[in-house]
Amino acid sequence: MSLSQIAKTISASPTLKLNEKASILLGKGDPVIHLGGGEPKSKVPMDAILSTAAHLNTGEVRYAPADGIPALKKAVIRYTEEFYGKLVAPENVICSGGAKQAIMVAMQAILNPQEEIIYPSPYWVSYPEMAKLCGAIGVAVLPEDGTFYPRMYDIEQRVGSYTKAIIINSPNNPTGAMYSEDFIADVVDYCERRDLYLIMDDIYHRLIFDGKKPFSVYKFTKRNIEESKIIVVNGVSKQYAMTGFRIGWAVGNRKVIEAMANIQGHQTSGPSVLLQKAAVGALNGIQSSVESLRCTLENNRNVMIDMLNSFEGVKVTKPDGTFYCFADFRAYEKSSHKLSNMLIDKVLVLTVPGIEFGLEGYLRLSYCGTIKDVTEGIERMKWALDPNSPNELYIGDRKLVREWA
Ligand SMILES: Cc1ncc(COP(=O)(O)O)c(C=O)c1O
Repeated sequence: MSLSQIAKTISASPTLKLNEKASILLGKGDPVIHLGGGEPKSKVPMDAILSTAAHLNTGEVRYAPADGIPALKKAVIRYTEEFYGKLVAPENVICSGGAKQAIMVAMQAILNPQEEIIYPSPYWVSYPEMAKLCGAIGVAVLPEDGTFYPRMYDIEQRVGSYTKAIIINSPNNPTGAMYSEDFIADVVDYCERRDLYLIMDDIYHRLIFDGKKPFSVYKFTKRNIEESKIIVVNGVSKQYAMTGFRIGWAVGNRKVIEAMANIQGHQTSGPSVLLQKAAVGALNGIQSSVESLRCTLENNRNVMIDMLNSFEGVKVTKPDGTFYCFADFRAYEKSSHKLSNMLIDKVLVLTVPGIEFGLEGYLRLSYCGTIKDVTEGIERMKWALDPNSPNELYIGDRKLVREWA
């Protein structure tokens, strides 16, 4: 079959593939523990549900404007004022089908074929594929010092005449690393001097630990929004556990937002009005669910890190936020795909191979499930990997026998 050049280069999202694998095994009744997930298990805020239900009850569910309904833009403007200390106009806001679509249309609005977009590595799996969808090139920058905290020096080495933009995701998926204010200040200054776009993927910015507070990228620029090439992306998926609602947004200068809206208008039109109403409910409603999710995640992180530190062969950096931990398993197995497959086959624990995020020998482990998932999942992994483990393990009434070294 003849497919387009672009189609041939795009691979399926590994995390979505894993979700499918998990649901097939669970459907068969296998006691799978999903440490590969990227969504909180808490309930959607009641304000979001009521707001959608009220609109549904009108019986009139119509097309929404390509760039979002006024009520959601208003809620995003208020959010931007509260969390970013920045007053913006409705023309500076676009509401999209998840932060994913907001990032995608931002890239489509700014990248020409062959141009480059830089991001620190490890990186979110979709960045390279999104760049390819624009005919552009994603350039991953691995910090030279072996940490998960990039320095401006690392990025500068990779900037060239084709570089058009930098994308920063902090706290980061998959490492959980939250970058320092100094680093973000340097990135803003550098982008302004080199006239580069800066996309801030802030989707996890409120899910941070150890007393850290979200900070605003706008603190580091003197430019007004119309002169600025900063595009801030955020959404309701992670912080309000509303992944299935598919609502995200971007804030930027009017010209870039208008271009994004033109693209989105032909792609999908505006996101469903019902789901936008839900996002309005979440953003304007009672906020306690965000803090309660944040606390649960911090507790789960502590438990997971303590348990991983008890493995002889695992090296782990404590995540500052998100619900992921990116641990080094090279002492057990150099190929992250092999290791991930072994863990699902032998002990029914789902993990994401680090190579999918640009770093071989690591696994991404999520702690967004229940504490029981975290503890049982890591216990099963330890049993599978530690040569000193007892020969047998019971999962419910299933007996597993270690027949590997
Ligand atoms: C770093 C990062 N950015 C963006 C997204 C997309 O979020 P949404 O569900 O709003 O499309 C995700 C989701 O996993 C993510 O991890």
